[in-house]
Amino acid sequence: MKLKEALKNTLSSNELDMLIRGYDIVGDMAITIIPPELEQHESLIGEAILSINKHVRVVAKRDGNYSGQYRIIHLKIIAGENRKETIHQEFGVKLHLNPETVYFSVRSGNERKRIAGLIQANETILVMFSGAGPYPLLIARYNKSCTIIGVELNKDAHAFALRNLKVNKAEKQVKFLHGDVREIVPHLGLLFDRIIMPLPKTAHDFLPLAMQNLRRDGWLHFYDFQSADSFAASLEKVNRCCPSLQRQVVESEIVICGHSGPDTYRICVDARIG
Ligand SMILES: C[S@@+](CC[C@H](N)C(=O)[O-])C[C@H]1O[C@@H](n2cnc3c(N)ncnc32)[C@H](O)[C@@H]1O
Repeated sequence: MKLKEALKNTLSSNELDMLIRGYDIVGDMAITIIPPELEQHESLIGEAILSINKHVRVVAKRDGNYSGQYRIIHLKIIAGENRKETIHQEFGVKLHLNPETVYFSVRSGNERKRIAGLIQANETILVMFSGAGPYPLLIARYNKSCTIIGVELNKDAHAFALRNLKVNKAEKQVKFLHGDVREIVPHLGLLFDRIIMPLPKTAHDFLPLAMQNLRRDGWLHFYDFQSADSFAASLEKVNRCCPSLQRQVVESEIVICGHSGPDTYRICVDARIG
């Protein structure tokens, strides 16, 4: 049953029009948005979400916006059990996480699977901004000959990543490091075959660092937020970093992988850098 249908005898037709019908399901948690006009009914809305999703045990509402260096958001429980930790399954990978202390978007699951599908045999891969570990663990699951390093600043996210590493038995392929990529990556002394940069708001600040640690003809996956008529500007950000490092984009593609507001897309620039 749909949420609107479940609430048709509880909310007025005006209120039903204001209801945001979609919600994300992370493990056994549903995460929804309650417009201010409906706040007085938030527990009823939460109960309705519980009643139509038998495997959901916790309903939380977004209480603010994604913010700060860790890109996290405050959540308020509106129905169900009083906890914020859950276990999410993504294409066979188990992810323990708390969506309030760690950035995680279920909506990026297909994009992570797309990247995992691009990996060639024996690659050495860097995931900057690895969070609770979804990219490295998904890549490892589907590419047994590659090795991956993930670097994450948020210590809660890193702690979940270490737990997820064990749970998914990926210790031989994946290493998670805690800290700022600007401090950690230059000391690794490695040139990677592929570098993934899933921090759309500010990843451009890290492009020179990524290029310095990417082997010639290696692949860069640079995420950015961009309006529909300006996708080329994101590729231009990559191009602009090249001359001073004596590099060049030899092949590229732009992939739409989500939305961030009505006119803004989350895109990935896949670029082979010579
Ligand atoms: C948009 S989240 C992506 C997390 C994860 N890759 C995922 O897909 O769920 C970006 C992550 O980058 C981390 N971060 C931000 N600045 C960083 C830095 N300078 N060094 C390492 N990690 C950083 C944040 O804490 C956050 O977990």
